[in-house]
Amino acid sequence: EKDELEARARAVKERLGRRLFIPGHHYQKDEVIQFADATGDSLQLARLAAKNSEADYIVFCGVHFMAETADMLTSAAQAVILPDLRAGCSMADMADLFQVERAWAALSERLGETIVPLVYVNSTAAIKAFVGRHGGATVTSSNAKRMMEWAFSQKERVFFLPDQHLGRNTAYALGIGLDEMAVWDPHEETLQCTGALERVKVILWKGHCSVHENFTVEQIAFIRRTKPDMKIIVHPECRFEVVQQADDAGSTKYIIDTIRNAPPGSQWAIGTEMNLVNRLKQEHPDKEIVSLNPYMCPCLTMNRIDLPHFVWALESLEQGTIVNRITVPEHVAFEAKTALQRMLALA
Ligand code: 13P
Ligand code: SF4
Repeated sequence: EKDELEARARAVKERLGRRLFIPGHHYQKDEVIQFADATGDSLQLARLAAKNSEADYIVFCGVHFMAETADMLTSAAQAVILPDLRAGCSMADMADLFQVERAWAALSERLGETIVPLVYVNSTAAIKAFVGRHGGATVTSSNAKRMMEWAFSQKERVFFLPDQHLGRNTAYALGIGLDEMAVWDPHEETLQCTGALERVKVILWKGHCSVHENFTVEQIAFIRRTKPDMKIIVHPECRFEVVQQADDAGSTKYIIDTIRNAPPGSQWAIGTEMNLVNRLKQEHPDKEIVSLNPYMCPCLTMNRIDLPHFVWALESLEQGTIVNRITVPEHVAFEAKTALQRMLALA
């Protein structure tokens, strides 16, 4: 059945030619990534969407927030399709607009107009719009440092959402102490900080990625004990202690490039999503590659995009029906694009 589905996908691709464009995130399954016209990390995929003016249909192999971004950065006539609408992101779901507005009001009351918001692209278009409206920008894992520097050129404090770990890891890399960071809990509506409020430079939203939180310092200790020559590389969505104890950290693209450039025979434990780690293993049989978490870490929502959904979306196009089209309302897109463009102009 897999062979038959693959043949059907190939046939549609051939018939639609350049009218169809398929971007795929590195965390996608092999069974769909084999059909991608381009693969990339979140920044690369946002850039590709912004550049693409040719395709009528963009069948996005990734998750909902990525398809929203693609829709906002392409023209109204181009249809962005997400093969399974259940492909969301647990991190993006950790911040809704109402919560963000409440947080902003509370923080502004206490800290005045000293704060600029920065939002990880792993967020809804509505929150990107909020950030655009308040002078802020989006960031991805590959430009978070650069964007945080930019934010500090605007205001003295940064409100970083929704991933506390990427925010903390990035701020720390810029020399900001943990005692200069505070955490906003959207459920309790409280600000937790160890030092004095006036000293706080970065306010982190209490959100996280449920995949990357599964990497732990115990797993690092195990590798250090059993494989002393093995290098450990992790994604910056991992917890602070994990990133600190790893040998290196970076976006999916950074991890891929590092492994590609590593010498034959080198040993690597990787702390990121399972499909990518497995692919790197297959692509580099000359290197010893393991997942930092021995039980592996799949992103269940990324995995929603499977071959049957993918083929269904493609074949529907040929039958004249655009299924699962992702559209961001114009008034939201307008402000969200401001935040995205601030990033794309700098990155
Ligand atoms: P990057 O590919 O930009 O590193 O993002 C990782 C991720 O979690 C996407 O959901
Ligand atoms: Fe969201 Fe984490 Fe999955 Fe990325 S890996 S889509 S951040 S849940």
